Amino acid sequence: MNQETAAFLPSTLVINIEEIDDQHAALFSRLAALKVLCLDTPDLPLAEAEALMNQLREHCATEERLAGENGLNFSAHARKHQKMLDAIAKAIDEVHQQKIDVFGVLRYIEYWFERHIREEDLNLGRNLQQVSSGLYDPEKPFTLARAAAM
Ligand SMILES: [Fe+2]
Repeated sequence: MNQETAAFLPSTLVINIEEIDDQHAALFSRLAALKVLCLDTPDLPLAEAEALMNQLREHCATEERLAGENGLNFSAHARKHQKMLDAIAKAIDEVHQQKIDVFGVLRYIEYWFERHIREEDLNLGRNLQQVSSGLYDPEKPFTLARAAAM
C-alpha cells in the first residue's frame, strides 16, 4: 500500500485488495487534507471539489471493473455508488451556493464512505479473493448476513 496515505485507512476497513485499499486510503487522505484546507474558509474551492468528485468516480469505476473482470454481479453495489455520487455532487453544489456548511459535507462523505466500505466493499474484497482462489460460488456470494452467521 502507498505508505504516504496508508495511515489514513483504519485497519478494520482494509479489504485486502491492494488497488482498492490504495484508493480508499487516498480518498480518506484527501478528505483529511480538505478539512484542513477548509478551516480558514467556509467554501470548498471548485478545483478541489472537482478533484474529489473525479477521484470518487474513478474509484467506483475501479471497483466495477474489478468485479466485472472477475464475473461478479455488481449491479446493486453500482446503484449505491451512483446514489452516493449524486448525493455528494448535490451537497457540493449546496456548499457553493452557501446553503450548507463545508465541514458538514466533508463529515458526511467520510461517514458514508466508511459505512459503504463496511457494508459493501469488505464483501467485494472477500468475493474477489474467493474468485482468485477458485472458491467463489455465484449461488452463495459473501454477504453480511453470512458473515454475521459465521
Ligand atoms: Fe464500493
